[in-house]
Amino acid sequence: LSAAPRPVVLVSRDAGCGDSASALAQGGIAAAIGPGDDPHAHAHDTLLAGAGHNDAGMVRWLCVRAPATIAWLQRQGVPFDREGDRLSLGREGGHGRNRIVHAGGDASGRVLVDALAARVRAASHVRWQVGEVHALLLHGDAVGGVRLREAGGGSVEIAARDVVLATGGIGAAYARTSNPVGADGAGLALGLAAGARARDLEFVQFHPTGLDLPAAQCVPLVTEALRGAGAHLCDVHGRWLMAGVHGQVDLAPRDVVARRVARALREDGGAWLDARAIGDGWPSRFPTVFAACRAHGIDPRAVPIPVTPVAHFHMGGLAVDRDGATSVPGLHAVGEVACNGVHGANRLASNSLLEGVTCGRRLGRRLAREASPCARGGAFRVAEAGAGAGDPQLAWLRAQLWHALGPERDGSTMHALAGAIDPAAGWQAALARRLVLAALQRRASLGAHWRTDAP
Ligand code: SIN
Repeated sequence: LSAAPRPVVLVSRDAGCGDSASALAQGGIAAAIGPGDDPHAHAHDTLLAGAGHNDAGMVRWLCVRAPATIAWLQRQGVPFDREGDRLSLGREGGHGRNRIVHAGGDASGRVLVDALAARVRAASHVRWQVGEVHALLLHGDAVGGVRLREAGGGSVEIAARDVVLATGGIGAAYARTSNPVGADGAGLALGLAAGARARDLEFVQFHPTGLDLPAAQCVPLVTEALRGAGAHLCDVHGRWLMAGVHGQVDLAPRDVVARRVARALREDGGAWLDARAIGDGWPSRFPTVFAACRAHGIDPRAVPIPVTPVAHFHMGGLAVDRDGATSVPGLHAVGEVACNGVHGANRLASNSLLEGVTCGRRLGRRLAREASPCARGGAFRVAEAGAGAGDPQLAWLRAQLWHALGPERDGSTMHALAGAIDPAAGWQAALARRLVLAALQRRASLGAHWRTDAP
């Protein structure tokens, strides 16, 4: 939208953004708009969660811009939830106060994506094409276009002086994730194949509370906003899991809570979120989680919800500057596939839709102002991630990544996995190996990268 009036071809795997992690976001968008709040307090919490590994200037910029992002989204037609004449503000882990703007109760991502998709469909400068980009076309070192597979199976090439990857994260590379199955790292692998530099690949955030459904890979999230509304984690005997673990107890930073839940699963046979106190407010305040629980025979008004940590967000990705440019001329990245350093070693809750929208607009405005220089003529070089792994190999990779590169890691397990992965067994294997090697190189624990051999 912000690149107008430059012509844009938007390519997505389906016409309704159904395969997008953004659409699954429940909690909302963080912004310091409440009485007494200010962007510096938001920035402070972001740096604390990120273990100081963040680009502090980028953090300040994002937090200062956040209120304007909320106002822009309202102008695009996003109906945020209200309390009287004010926006209603929820609370999530790591935030010193209530500052989470939300929509549809816990359907924030869906409401936001639907509103923006409607604007895109009405925008005369955008042509929306269903298909999947499987190759970047390069002239020398610079991007000159993409090759995509259309829904009908045909292949077409589109010339472009600027290409933006907005392909999401890598959650589906893991055995358990809150992400949709399409968040498989394909965009990251494509950027790497084109020679783009990567950054912070070892930092993967695990959300403490996915719905614990045996044998399912992509499970519904049980939003942290429930803990912000008073729910608490407990063990099989009903004992409070977070008591004595951290001063912020159930709203401690995600990595701390995720490790505690993982330990309860390993040692005590399970972990539960007791949210019975929400009572009759369940269907209206948390309709998404309520429906997911009911679909699996759980009534959260009556019984605690079984939960498990899940791969949730990749802080690392293609290294980009503050405007979203990768190291490959003409190739840009935004959102979870990119790493501009704003999230550091651990993303603060509800900063990801904020980053996606705010940085997406910044990149759009830059592309509206200036196109990258025309790539040199001659034949294109085709950069593609290559063939995918087969189903048995994928299942093995997902289980191994969960085991070696999950909420808790150690050097010998990671070494063994790096040696066991055959990078020629498909692009997912090559990407998994890059992740493991990055994690091995970081020898001390930091943020979400927790090494039991170097705590
Ligand atoms: C949640 O609703 O718990 C997730 C929010 C986020 O990941 O920022």
